[in-house]
Amino acid sequence: MKIREKMLPVLGPQGGEEEIQALREVIESGWWGKGPKVAEFEEKFAQMVGHKYAIAVTSASHGQDLIMKALGFKDIDVINPAISFIATAMIPLWNGFTTNIVDVKADTLCIDPGDVDRYKKPNSELLIAVNEAGVPADYDALRKVFGGFILEDTAHSCYTPGAGLGGDAAVWSFQAVKTMPGGDGGMITTDDKQLADRCREMTWFGVSSTWSRSQGRSGKPGYAWDYEVDLVGYKYYMIDIIAAICLEQMKKLPEHLKFRRHIQKRYNDELNPMIERPPHSETVQYYAPRVPAPHRDRLIDYLADKKIHTSVHFKPLYKYTPLKQNREYPVCETEWVRLISLPCHNRMKEDDIDYVIYWVNKYFEDQI
Ligand SMILES: Cc1ncc(COP(=O)(O)O)c(C=O)c1O
Repeated sequence: MKIREKMLPVLGPQGGEEEIQALREVIESGWWGKGPKVAEFEEKFAQMVGHKYAIAVTSASHGQDLIMKALGFKDIDVINPAISFIATAMIPLWNGFTTNIVDVKADTLCIDPGDVDRYKKPNSELLIAVNEAGVPADYDALRKVFGGFILEDTAHSCYTPGAGLGGDAAVWSFQAVKTMPGGDGGMITTDDKQLADRCREMTWFGVSSTWSRSQGRSGKPGYAWDYEVDLVGYKYYMIDIIAAICLEQMKKLPEHLKFRRHIQKRYNDELNPMIERPPHSETVQYYAPRVPAPHRDRLIDYLADKKIHTSVHFKPLYKYTPLKQNREYPVCETEWVRLISLPCHNRMKEDDIDYVIYWVNKYFEDQI
């Protein structure tokens, strides 16, 4: 097959006229900041997830940070899975907490409840469970071994039915390469009113929103300029420009997820048997099969020569200097060297999928 001219990206957002029109409306409305679009997005998102409250924020990372701050923890230990994006393990450090990285299960690469039980500490009060590539962690098993607050990192789960409801709160990501991208942005969802109110207050220095104050002064017309502040807050709220894109992406979500699952099925059906299939994902945030370890890096280089971008989700967190741990990770060490993410996103066309399958299979055929 002829080598293509343009690189095929591994991940990427897909938008069009609908997003452009939605942005135009916000820009022309004269209200660009946090306003009616954010309110509409929060309401629709809470409904989709089945949580009572949704608070739109600048990113999933800031959502996690806000939850840690709103819960008022002091000097705690935070349990994290070894395989995740660096945010999950670094945010506890922003707050002066320790990060306690535990091993993952070989099949799903989600946090291993058995390892949580072995390595939890007396001050382990928060556990962050990541639904890797949209595959849910085992929340029932986690509840049995961990009595503290469980934060469900749903950055890859938008949207898997039931996602977010396994923990005490969930954080979602709308970063540029996620399944429902807004360019950036995140959402906290929970049924805990006290936590939701506190997080909302903290999204803007403890000040109530200018949008709600622009709607009148307790029944009187005009702008309610005054506000009270009684806690230390941050600047983590989503703006209408982002919410407008997210709302359009939300409408397209069923169709986008259907196509991602189509890519997953074609790869599963047609890739060489040397490639170990990943567990089924409803969102297919990325398609990460496993290959025999000596082939992983060679395959990455081979595919790059064919203009196919790949990635690795993820390098174990304990390998990064600020997150070093003093223990062994037998499962993670065996599995992560076999991981390779192949292109999977809504910009792909059918012949892009053909192209990836052809070159991955050719690599393995040429080995024999
Ligand atoms: C598992 C996981 N958690 C959290 C994040 C952080 O999301 P955000 O970029 O919205 O802060 C990411 C981003 O890639 C992620 O993959």
